Amino acid sequence: MPIHSSATGWILETRNTGYALGLNPAGLLAHRYWGARLPYISDYPAPFDPIKWSSPDGPHHFVPEEYPGYANTKYIDPCLKVTYADGTRDVVLTYEDFSITISPQPVLDLRFKDSHYPLQLTLHYRIHEEYDLIERWATLENLGDDPILIERAFSAKWTLPPGDNYSLTHLYGRHIDEFHVQRESLTPGLKVIESRRIIPSHRASPWFAVDRIAGEEQGEVWFGTLAWSGNFKITAEATEFASTRISIGLNDWDFAWKLMPHQIFVTPASISGYTKNGLGAASRIFHDYVRNEIIPHGKTPHKILYNSWEATLFDVDEASQSKLAYIAAQMGVELFVMDDGWFHNRNLDNAGLGDWFPDKVKFPNGLGGLITNVNDLGMDFGLWVEPEMVNPDSDLYRAHPDWVIHFPTRARTESRNQLILNMARTDVQNHIIESLDKLLSENNITFIKWDMNRGVSEPGWADAPGDQREIWVRYVQGLYHVWDILRQRHPKVIWQSCASGGGRADFGILKFADQIWTSDNTEATARLNIQEGYSQFLPANTMEAWVTDWDKDLVPLEFRFHVSMCGSLGVGGNLLEWNQSDREAAAKCISLYKEIRHIIQFGDQFRLISSQKNDYSAVQYLSKDKTEGVLFAFRTHIPEPFNIPLIHLRGLDPEALYSIEGVEQTWSGLAWMEAGLKVVLNNLQSKILRIKRI
Ligand code: DGJ
Repeated sequence: MPIHSSATGWILETRNTGYALGLNPAGLLAHRYWGARLPYISDYPAPFDPIKWSSPDGPHHFVPEEYPGYANTKYIDPCLKVTYADGTRDVVLTYEDFSITISPQPVLDLRFKDSHYPLQLTLHYRIHEEYDLIERWATLENLGDDPILIERAFSAKWTLPPGDNYSLTHLYGRHIDEFHVQRESLTPGLKVIESRRIIPSHRASPWFAVDRIAGEEQGEVWFGTLAWSGNFKITAEATEFASTRISIGLNDWDFAWKLMPHQIFVTPASISGYTKNGLGAASRIFHDYVRNEIIPHGKTPHKILYNSWEATLFDVDEASQSKLAYIAAQMGVELFVMDDGWFHNRNLDNAGLGDWFPDKVKFPNGLGGLITNVNDLGMDFGLWVEPEMVNPDSDLYRAHPDWVIHFPTRARTESRNQLILNMARTDVQNHIIESLDKLLSENNITFIKWDMNRGVSEPGWADAPGDQREIWVRYVQGLYHVWDILRQRHPKVIWQSCASGGGRADFGILKFADQIWTSDNTEATARLNIQEGYSQFLPANTMEAWVTDWDKDLVPLEFRFHVSMCGSLGVGGNLLEWNQSDREAAAKCISLYKEIRHIIQFGDQFRLISSQKNDYSAVQYLSKDKTEGVLFAFRTHIPEPFNIPLIHLRGLDPEALYSIEGVEQTWSGLAWMEAGLKVVLNNLQSKILRIKRI
């Protein structure tokens, strides 16, 4: 049983980790331990007993509380802040009781009540034993007759072992330059990572890792994420008393939720883990968890797709798309996706969004002809949509100008000539469900790329039933609802989440979408960096990667393919301009990818040499049974006569013998890992080497 409980203490154990919490003598729920699993239950430390330091800092300030409400002399960053009907603006929690449920995974629920007001808080801890992960979220319930205003409700506070010499690793970026890995010391104070754009955005990802001296494959790492596709906030606090804590949850910036009598509010889940084996192991834990527990079709290999966007932009019709499809099929592509431009009046980005039916000029007989051509070529057919958006120049906007997010007294700021439909509204949700359901029911479509190309502005909702600021949460809940219904009605469809590239890449969206469009930047050397950052918390099978023409004069086609083969391979170049030898080279890579994709998409990933830190890099994928692997090595540019250093493989069975393609000797796994492999590359050259256990 992974949950051990007494009247005042709880120990949560996974395969390799232990997490302990309990009520301290003052009745506060205190963090006790998070780290390697200890041999005996009696080994876990007791809850922290507050000491008195100096007069301005009361005892509450010292206790590493699991979920502190803002109250009394507690000046640390709280998880919960509310305002009651009489204007009281703090929350004093007293413990009530706990319960444990076992199935499908063990969950510990701890119940608290405000000492004076009718507010109940339940903290939930779900244990994912085999992944060494703990999932936490909170439920607030208004037990009284007056509304209660929630101003902050985080999902969890994760407390590190006592000490302040930690470093935080997080991801930041920009459009066409996502997922930079940033590691920095946590000095006393508060570091905030957040989104205010209604999507997680390119700017930051809802992911963190904390360590003291960890490397890629060794050292203690505490890591976590938030399963949420909207505004989020991560605060990393190192207190003046050497206590380090990470809070994570819904962003409280411009947020409020009017919790009506007898209603509940449930936060999104935060999932965290601990490993002794470095950032690489932390990533692999999340990769397994996402593939096995989150994405809808986690066991199905992704098809190699062709996407027409960079070839034809908005200029699509049956003839031009069929020509591309014909060449794609000859190269071995399995899924043909028509991107933007196919729907009513969509010739540029200034019109059409919202009217999800085929353009009469481009497709006078509907999409059926093109889909039949594609299917006759042996490929599946996929389509691009951007359901949350509307152009002012669209039938939908003309009929429902009030459906967009706006403040009535302000101009509606357009971005890419578009406005955002208010997904919090049920009429908007129903409209989108019906129009996409019609599209999917009338056409043989097995793949949808769901795009979202702008951040919010003027976040108003004049006729909101509660507080207008609920829009930040209700929008995302509405999005999930729409997607959920569509998925239930069309369970075989594979969905891809795109937000101008990787602007909405998180565990929340992956419950609906099997894939993420990683970045609008398809230049291969830039992609190496983007993909490395992406892999910190998301697995390769979710990472859609196309080979395009952006860098065709600079980077060899084979290099470009090798980069894209590190994820879910796609092609996005203008195939009409590819000569015969390009097409043959592409066909060869595609055929190789078909042989190895099970290792890449479902195996363990090892970042051997970082491309974000070097002008050369290597990444290895290894099947779960360690019998076969693939090594990718890239050299972008290093001055002659230097070459890339020896590459040390990882994860192999130390005793077993392995052969490596193109290398004469057979060595033990341990030798390949310790002595390393020499790979010679010229600038802008890459290699794929297959690894086989003998
Ligand atoms: C942004 C996406 O990231 C691109 O791949 C493409 O689908 C365009 N939108 C289409 O408008």
